[in-house]
Amino acid sequence: MLAIIVAVDENNAIGKDNKLLWHITEDLKYFKIITNGHPVIMGRKTFESIGRALPGRTNIIISRNPRFTAAGCRVVASLDDAIAVASDIDENQFIIGGASIYREAVGVADTIYLTVVHNRYDADTFFPEISKSEWDEVERIDFERGKDFEYSFSFLKLKKIQYLKQG
Ligand SMILES: NC(=O)c1ccc[n+]([C@@H]2O[C@H](COP(=O)([O-])OP(=O)(O)OC[C@H]3O[C@@H](n4cnc5c(N)ncnc54)[C@H](OP(=O)(O)O)[C@@H]3O)[C@@H](O)[C@H]2O)c1
Repeated sequence: MLAIIVAVDENNAIGKDNKLLWHITEDLKYFKIITNGHPVIMGRKTFESIGRALPGRTNIIISRNPRFTAAGCRVVASLDDAIAVASDIDENQFIIGGASIYREAVGVADTIYLTVVHNRYDADTFFPEISKSEWDEVERIDFERGKDFEYSFSFLKLKKIQYLKQG
């Protein structure tokens, strides 16, 4: 499984000023449960935004800067290289952002763990539009609000529809 994991608002917004747009305790826990023990692939700016290697996971950072290093992380020069490194480690790999990496990854990922926050935010970074005809919703959990979050949100799991026909 090559999965994208992302949280979007109703306009597909994901970030502003290299930060997330909300703090949803349930979503952070969900992210940890889903990705724990598996390699995570991210762009250099998302790594800077998180500020440290995520524990319990091989952290793979994509950067065009050959001198970029980060403690406890692998640094590679492309998404293809990141997927090659990750798939040598584990059959389940997670692409955790940000926008530039998601734009490349939607074409190759087979699964999307999509948190939808039912609200609209001021943002400068967006998840790409995905075609509903290419992705099947296979799981959905709706929350009316979070423990410390006043808006509703949903955890969706999407699977890419395979168009391959036999014979
Ligand atoms: N809501 C969510 O689920 C979520 C998840 C993750 C991130 N975010 C948000 O997304 C925003 C960051 O996204 P972003 O698009 O600005 O940055 P990003 O995708 O995290 O990182 C961009 C950087 O990745 C490297 N890169 C990208 N494509 C590359 C390629 N083809 N080959 C080699 N290197 C490549 C470059 O690094 P160098 O400049 O070092 O070459 C580029 O500057 C932040 O606001 C963050 O909070 C939101």
